[in-house]
Amino acid sequence: MIYRSFRINKLNQEMQYKLKEELKKFSDKDKILFHKNKLDAMGEMLENIAHQWRQPLSQINSSVLLIDDTLHEMNFRNIDVEERLLEIESLTKYLSNTINDFKDFFAHDKIKNSFLLREMIEKSIYIVKGSLKKNNVEVIVNIEQDCRYYGYESELQQVVLVLLNNSKEALVNRSIKDPIINIYIKQEDEFYKIKICDNAGGIIKSIREKIFEPYFTTKHKSKGTGLGLYMSKKIIEESMDGELNMNTHKLGVCFEIKLKVVNE
Ligand SMILES: Nc1ncnc2c1ncn2[C@@H]1O[C@H](COP(=O)(O)OP(=O)(O)O)[C@@H](O)[C@H]1O
Ligand SMILES: [Mg+2]
Repeated sequence: MIYRSFRINKLNQEMQYKLKEELKKFSDKDKILFHKNKLDAMGEMLENIAHQWRQPLSQINSSVLLIDDTLHEMNFRNIDVEERLLEIESLTKYLSNTINDFKDFFAHDKIKNSFLLREMIEKSIYIVKGSLKKNNVEVIVNIEQDCRYYGYESELQQVVLVLLNNSKEALVNRSIKDPIINIYIKQEDEFYKIKICDNAGGIIKSIREKIFEPYFTTKHKSKGTGLGLYMSKKIIEESMDGELNMNTHKLGVCFEIKLKVVNE
């Protein structure tokens, strides 16, 4: 009798443990889904803003052209005015480019296209340019070969942004004196390699193998989700059949994205 109730208790405990595990799995999935939904919602919002802004921006541009023409017809020549007009023109172009870049980044269209890795990197840098500049973080792009890749550009860009942001955050949080992010693009045999290296001091040994786990973060709750590297690894390894790894070097870490050379 005692033995039986002991067994039942034990079974109960095991069931409860299993239930908890399953529930945790569910809530992890929910959180990831929530994160993904948030990105999708953001993409939709930007799509709307882009749509609403396109018209006024092009109106501003045509007004500038009209003013320019009229001044020419009147034989009015003034360097300052002409410079200002050019400035308006290039600023409106800049605004519409920015909104397109953000829109592309959040779009989950899942369409493969052919693109240069260098251009994808440049677009990613452009998105975080403001905060890099604010924190005096220098970014150097080193290109050994111009690699053309056929795949999901916005997903790859999302990964690059996670890596750039992580480096930036480590550099800023640790108040590194001359903060630098070096990016390398090269081809080695049948692989393309994108390396993103910083001089932020690296990651201590005891947590190195945890960084790709979901919800692992060393940042304050309001700052880190611990999902960046986990999702990035999933994107690179599951939807691109590549690899994402971290190596340490003297001054910091290098994250390496390895992709199979695929051409259209
Ligand atoms: N470049 C880096 N330098 C130092 N530590 C890093 C770097 N990149 C990632 N980490 C560590 O890995 C952890 C997990 O990163 P991530 O998955 O992007 O989540 P989060 O940025 O939200 O914390 C970070 O909290 C940080 O401790
Ligand atoms: Mg992160």
